[in-house]
Amino acid sequence: MKRPILIHPDPRLKKVCSPVDDITGELSKLADDMLETMYDAPGIGLAAPQVGVLYRLIVLDCVKEEGAAPCPMVMFNPEIVASSEETSVYEEGCLSIPEQYAEVTRPAEVEVAWIDQQGHPRKQTFDKLWATCVQHEIDHLNGKLFIDYLKPLKRQMITRKMQKLKRERARA
Ligand code: NI
Repeated sequence: MKRPILIHPDPRLKKVCSPVDDITGELSKLADDMLETMYDAPGIGLAAPQVGVLYRLIVLDCVKEEGAAPCPMVMFNPEIVASSEETSVYEEGCLSIPEQYAEVTRPAEVEVAWIDQQGHPRKQTFDKLWATCVQHEIDHLNGKLFIDYLKPLKRQMITRKMQKLKRERARA
């Protein structure tokens, strides 16, 4: 089932989310719904607070090549356990900030530990787009958006555009 995606600014997008103690059927269903919502958008990552649920849960799939097999990943309580000195720059966007893009510099490689949908602990190193995406999604769990990395003026400009978009959508 698709879920509505919150649009910035929204107080729920600024909250630090709670760890998941127990992957209940409800939370597992939420992860499936988030994947469906992400693919439909379409996007390459989605965090639970973006659908209004303040738990530490993200989903991602950064496979972009036409015809390549999808690689859906579900991460409960994801944590960056190591980051490279080397950085990379990607033009980022966010399903909660539609049609706004900006370059963000982040560590080029990160090692992430998480609990998968079956409750098993996992650890993996990510690079390239996957590294950027997983960091962007984990930021969401700490109430941080990619525009928080931008200069204040640019951030305010984007926020005003989003306020206007929300007013227009509310009228529609
Ligand atoms: Ni985002």
